[in-house]
Amino acid sequence: MTRSIVITGASRGLGLASAAHLYEQGWQVIAAMRSVDAGLKNLRAVTGAVENSPRLTGIKLDLADSDSIACAAEEIKMLVGAPDVLVHNAGLAAAGGAEETPMAAWHQLFATNLFGPVEFTKALLPAMRAKGRGRIIVVSSQGGVRGMPGISAYSASKGAIERWAESLAHEIAPFGLGVTILVTGTFKTEILTEQTPDYGNHNGPYAKVYEGIHSAGREFVDKNASSPEKFARALAAAIEDDAPIRRRTVGPDAAGLYYMARLLPGNVVHTIIRKAMKIPGANALKDASANTVSARKT
Ligand SMILES: NC(=O)c1ccc[n+]([C@@H]2O[C@H](COP(=O)([O-])OP(=O)(O)OC[C@H]3O[C@@H](n4cnc5c(N)ncnc54)[C@H](OP(=O)(O)O)[C@@H]3O)[C@@H](O)[C@H]2O)c1
Repeated sequence: MTRSIVITGASRGLGLASAAHLYEQGWQVIAAMRSVDAGLKNLRAVTGAVENSPRLTGIKLDLADSDSIACAAEEIKMLVGAPDVLVHNAGLAAAGGAEETPMAAWHQLFATNLFGPVEFTKALLPAMRAKGRGRIIVVSSQGGVRGMPGISAYSASKGAIERWAESLAHEIAPFGLGVTILVTGTFKTEILTEQTPDYGNHNGPYAKVYEGIHSAGREFVDKNASSPEKFARALAAAIEDDAPIRRRTVGPDAAGLYYMARLLPGNVVHTIIRKAMKIPGANALKDASANTVSARKT
């Protein structure tokens, strides 16, 4: 029997590669996207799927909009009753330190990365429970393992969705449903480009901190970022998990951080991350900070 999978954020990046791969593997793919026409065009171009293919459907979904979530859930129920797999892939990132990232950006990130997936899941769960089998997959990141510098809002949203997924897994296991958290490493998509907004003031008190993070980040991405197709293959394997909860890492950098965070004391992990991100040591920026404060006062 053909199994069905809903993938959010299937218009590009990891979602597009995953939707294409699973379609090629014989799944019935429901690609949830903000721009259905453009996204489906991309998907058909990659997969060679014909228009009106019964195994590839695009549905409109904006995770920051409750009405859109409710409509998308209804459309899915009409199509397949309950999906066999629901992948929470869509996500937003933002660069900028905790002090400088505006509250509007925090709200936008949490709406897309946490509240939207929670609401979408709530809308689909009754049907999934009634079916008595199925899996929910959460695409998390290294920021969900440890708070990363320069992306505090993003890290906080990924940490929050991981904790939600763990709670959910306990509750839905008695209904035959499971959860997999994918701790995702670095993959070449638009999330790593200037498409992602940067709220940091690069001439302000954190300038040297951002400088370190950006140069370390650039070097790392140039050397290590993997292809979205590699992520798609890992997702296809994760779908076959049958434990009530599984946490998998995707990519060597994610595995490195994940196991380091499990094995080493927190302060050691903090120091290793700070060094890798080229963050100056304690008191190194005291003068810069004092200068900024006195400059503000005058
Ligand atoms: N690439 C990496 O290195 C990496 C690392 C760790 C984790 N991840 C995670 O992997 C997932 C996919 O990221 P990506 O790398 O593929 O990024 P991407 O290329 O920027 O794609 C992000 C996707 O999310 C969708 N999206 C954004 N806001 C949305 C909203 N309000 N409602 C519905 N969809 C929305 C986008 O749709 P539009 O086309 O409409 O904008 C797009 O399809 C994210 O959860 C991200 O945090 C990525």
